[in-house]
Parts: sequence; structure tokens; C-alpha cells
Amino acid sequence: MIKALRGMKDILPPVSEKYLHFINTASKLANNFGFEYIETPILEETSLFKRSVGESSDIVGKEMYEFIDKGGNSVCLRPEGTAGVVRSFIEHKFDRKEGIFRYFYYGPMFRYERPQKGRLREFHQFGCETFGEPSVYEDANMIILLKDILDFYNIDYTLKINSLGCEKCMPVYRKKLIEFLDTKEAKICEDCIRRKATNPIRVLDCKVDACKDVYVDAPKLLDNLCEDCKKDFEKLQDILQKNKISYEIDIFLVRGLDYYTKTAFEFVSSSLGSQNAIAGGGRFDRLVEFMGGKPTPAIGFAIGIERILDLIELPQNKREGIYLGVLTENAKDKAFEIATNLRKKQKVIFIYNKKSLKAHLKGADKSNAKFAAIIGEDELEKNSIWVKDLDEKKEEILKIDFFLKKFGEIDV
Ligand code: HAM
Repeated sequence: MIKALRGMKDILPPVSEKYLHFINTASKLANNFGFEYIETPILEETSLFKRSVGESSDIVGKEMYEFIDKGGNSVCLRPEGTAGVVRSFIEHKFDRKEGIFRYFYYGPMFRYERPQKGRLREFHQFGCETFGEPSVYEDANMIILLKDILDFYNIDYTLKINSLGCEKCMPVYRKKLIEFLDTKEAKICEDCIRRKATNPIRVLDCKVDACKDVYVDAPKLLDNLCEDCKKDFEKLQDILQKNKISYEIDIFLVRGLDYYTKTAFEFVSSSLGSQNAIAGGGRFDRLVEFMGGKPTPAIGFAIGIERILDLIELPQNKREGIYLGVLTENAKDKAFEIATNLRKKQKVIFIYNKKSLKAHLKGADKSNAKFAAIIGEDELEKNSIWVKDLDEKKEEILKIDFFLKKFGEIDV
């Protein structure tokens, strides 16, 4: 038997209903904030992710689904959505246009991680990216949109925020951190020694207890922000407070991708196990320029859809549509014609096999249809149909023309 690959999952009904519901809700809310849908390829040049997500990140270092295609090009299944959107933004020359550009996207992402609960090799994200807006109000806007999406489903979360500084203050901080790490080499793990050389602030994110103990005394990013970054971080907090959004400052929140500057944030949930990050994002003001475009401030986030599917409870489904059945072989053609006609307007579950009325009513109830509509010899002769409203428990016999008008609003 061929099975799905390790870390990859089918999303089956009824969970797939939740998936679609979530995409619709998140798209609608993103639209309310001015975001427009963008679709970029799942397969991109490997160098796109190496340059944007960063060679020193775990994603690029260990987790890429990378291969050589038949044309000899090194290509890669996208591990995240931001890089592709940035590539597209530059390729279509939006960096040369005036204005603010807001995009949302959703779809599969691929990371060759060690699978466990909440951590898959193929997973789905819903993400938003804004280009061209340096104001910290946009940072707040992003956080509020994310919060609105999670609140819609009553998902509990803690919002964590941090500032990673800019090209002015980050290098100064990095130097101080390296000096600190130089004195601690004997006490920190192999990975952190490697990070010290490639992207030192990532050490702050290390999960090894001995390292965590060491970094309690490390110089703090927030103590080393330049005036502009400090002002923005304070303003962000001010906006959040005025909008009654609770948050925690997490000085160890550095995010796993290299492109971040200034505001970084994560939503974590206590309802999940160790993989408790539901969503994450932040500013990436330097990425567009770094990828060859004109300098353009940018900010975004992505939600891990699988992580919240278990937390989503959909409202109880109301009865909907029509269950159509036949009591006799002869009625099949007529019923088929009726089903095809009605479906232009509404959901019809048509059962081809003839059954007794009792069996049909049982099936109709199970299908959660609002109406059961049945045709037997009698009805066929009189050009009529037997209809039962399954909520109201009322039955009637209607002429087929009238029935089609009432339920399909289309003449036969
Ligand atoms: P990220 O933090 O790497 O950020 O991923 C965002 C979310 O995707 C995580 O919070 C988590 O819920 C989910 N996720 C990540 N890896 C897995 C996995 N292996 N299995 C299941 N869920 C997972 C980004 O991807 C950035 N592109 C976000 C962003 C957009 N920053 C700016 N713009």
C-alpha cells in the first residue's frame, strides 16, 4: 500500500470544511484591511530562499526540499511564502511605483523537519505582506488583523513582541553580543558556536537549557536600540495599549528567519503542545533592497493553519439543500433532469438507486438536507413531486413546474 510521505497529511472531511472556512474568513478579514490576493509558484529557484530566509537559518541549512530539475537548475519547494512574494514584487517592478501594496496568500509550504504533533513537512500557511509603509501603525494593523482572525474562532493566545533594531543599531548590538559570546564559548552548545559566526542573535532563541542560563546575562537588544527604533517600539506598545491588546515583551524572540528588522511578533497558544507558535511575523525593511529591488519598507506575518485547525469549532451546520430520491426505476430520468436544473441555484443530493420512502427519509436526515423530495410512479403520472420540509416536518405534493420555480427559480 502506498502511503502519504512522512510528515505529510491528507486534509479530509470534516476537517477540510474547517480548512475552507478558515481560508474564507481570513481572506475576508484581510480584505477588510486592504489586502489583495496573490498567488506565487510553489517551486522557486533555490537561491531565492538562500538569500532571503538566510544561509544561517535552520530552514535553509537543514530543511529545504531542494533538487536539480531536468534542465539542470537548482530548485526548491517553498519553505515559506514571504520570499516568493518579494521576488514577485520586484520582478513586476512594484518597487518602482508609488504607493502601498498589500497582499495575502495561502497554500502549502515544505520543510524537511523531524515530524511531531504540530510539526509537519508539508503544512499550510495563511500570510499577509505589506510593502511601502514604514509607519509603525502598519505594524499594529498587522497584529490587529491577526488578532481579529484568531478572535473570530475564539482561539486563545498570547502575543509576544520584540524589536530587532535596524541597520544602525543592530551591528552595534551584534558586536557587543559576539564579545559576550567569546567569553562563554566553553558553556554554550555547538549550534550556538556556529551561530556566533553566522547570525549571532539566533543564539538567543536556543532551546538548550545550559545556553538559556548563559544568555540571561547577555546584553539586551532592547537596551541597545537607536532612538528611531526605540521610539517606534514605544509607539507600537502605545497603540496596542490604546486598543486594549495585551502583549508580552519577549527579549529572546528573534524569529527563525534572517530577514527581520525592527518589530518581530509571535502568537503562541497554551492549548497546543511544544509546537505552540500559531503565527509569526515582523518587519523586513531591508529585504526588497537586498534581493535587488529599490529600498522598500515591508512587514508581514503567516499563520500555521494545521496548528489552529484543532482549535477551530465551526457553528453547528444548519440543514441545507435538497435530498432527491426515487421510488421507482422509471422516475430516474425525470429526477436527474430536476437535479441538474436545481443545482444552478442550490445544493442537491440525488440518490440514483430506488429505495423505499422510509429509507430515503433516513438518508435525507443523515445528509442534513433541509428538504426531502421524492418521486414515485404516482408522482410521475401526475407530473408532481412529494416534498417534506425536514425542519418543520411538513409534507406536500407539488407540481414539478411549481417545485422548480419555488426551489430553482428556473423554467424547464
Ligand atoms: P514562521 O514563523 O517560520 O514564519 O512560520 C509561520 C507559522 O507557520 C508558524 O508560527 C507555525 O504556526 C507555522 N509552521 C512553521 N513551520 C511549521 C511546520 N513544520 N509544521 C506546521 N506548522 C508550521 C514565516 O514563515 C514567515 N514567512 C512569516 C512572515 C511573513 N514574516 C513576514 N512575513
